[in-house]
Amino acid sequence: RTYTHISALPEEVLVRLFQFLGPEDLCRCSQVCSTWAQVVKTGLLWRHLYPVRWARGDYYCGGPGELDQDPDEEWVRNLEEEGRAYQEWDEDADVDESEEACEDSLAISTVRREKKLLNGMIQNLLPAVGPSVRTVSLAYSAAVSSKMVRQILSLCPNLTHLDLTQTDITDSAFDSWAQLEACRSLEHLDLSGCEKITDHTLKRLSLGLGDLTLPKNSPERRAKLLKGPSSPIRLLDEHSAYAMERTRQALIFKRRPGGQGMACSPVWVLDPAELADIEDAVDRSKRGGVTAQDEGRGGILELQAGGGSCCCRRSRRRSYRTGADAGSSYWQHLYGSLQCGHSTCCSSDTAIRTVSGAQCEPQATGGSDGFRTKCLSEGDSRTNQSGACRALRFLSLSGCYQVTDLGLRCLSQGGGLPLLEHLNLSGCLFITEVGLRELVSVCPSLNDEHFYYCDNINGPHAETASGCQNLQCGFRACCRSGE
Ligand code: FES
Repeated sequence: RTYTHISALPEEVLVRLFQFLGPEDLCRCSQVCSTWAQVVKTGLLWRHLYPVRWARGDYYCGGPGELDQDPDEEWVRNLEEEGRAYQEWDEDADVDESEEACEDSLAISTVRREKKLLNGMIQNLLPAVGPSVRTVSLAYSAAVSSKMVRQILSLCPNLTHLDLTQTDITDSAFDSWAQLEACRSLEHLDLSGCEKITDHTLKRLSLGLGDLTLPKNSPERRAKLLKGPSSPIRLLDEHSAYAMERTRQALIFKRRPGGQGMACSPVWVLDPAELADIEDAVDRSKRGGVTAQDEGRGGILELQAGGGSCCCRRSRRRSYRTGADAGSSYWQHLYGSLQCGHSTCCSSDTAIRTVSGAQCEPQATGGSDGFRTKCLSEGDSRTNQSGACRALRFLSLSGCYQVTDLGLRCLSQGGGLPLLEHLNLSGCLFITEVGLRELVSVCPSLNDEHFYYCDNINGPHAETASGCQNLQCGFRACCRSGE
């Protein structure tokens, strides 16, 4: 009988064997010899990265499908406590060896391990395997910084699933998406609880997803996207801006005990007069005789079970819009001068819509069943001739309260989001029904059951969309927290 030493196995066979190993074992294998170290850096072995879990001894490395189920409540709470302890920890302080410090030090060492793992991944692993990576989940990470996310995104240009739930990142994390089609494969983006995110991120996201409306490499395409929104977006007049700012401060103060307000960017709202192009597109779609609902429904049934990892969903299965309740009078006052923007359904003296007023919606979208509109012409709703594809199916901005209509408009550019099924805008305090309608009009696959926004906005699909998810959430923005 003859034996072959494992070192004699060809690399292809080693890769097949290594596919049965988890990240911890792969790291051990990489320390055996230089050949194995090279083989371990095969992209096929590192498709799905969960460094936050790995730092805590959970070495799951399968696809994100299974993790899309509701996360374990205790696990999330532990992570939050670790994050708090780590934030309070001062690296320069003398080591506190008292017993009280023991629990905290355990939490701190876990987060430090996570940070070390992230740095190791960025410096040693991703430069070799980055283009093969499809999933990066950094949800609830206390160690991740905007710089780290920026590096990860530049090294992993083919990501399809990115989860940054409840992290402290800012717009600068997405700098690498400022190039055309820099994230064209992205299908799932969860930014729930990322409070520092503003419209800049959405602008970069829109640019990175590509453009379905212009041929690839055309100068117009590049110029259009780099220029940003083609239609002017007006800043509220001085008086309204002042009132809005006061309101925002009040909301933020109310939401965060102790009034820990944050610096905010200006509040932008869409000028309804600029929405004529959207209305024209809807009319064109109606004339074409094809409703977007017809086109989008097949995919919705297949994928709606996916969902995201937002912990808020645990406490509230589904809420329905409250429509013209007492609270909405406040918003009517705030947005009193705004209209829905569709001249076919909005008279000149209409103020904000109520649910009953929203009956004009089918009229604008093609019949009683036409809740979804289709703004793209036939054949370009999935990919254009150059293969560009805005593949985003899931987007959560829950609690990203600085997002405004400007950000929503950026997403509407470049052909909209034809495959988007899940859109969570809970806690986006400063978006309006006008901005929502514009975005929704270019999201023909949107599933109302997975479409969440503030209960006090009489926006699109008012009767069928889900309500705000943050009403009972103690740590994400909501205009009705504490009621
Ligand atoms: Fe208005 Fe939650 S943001 S109800």
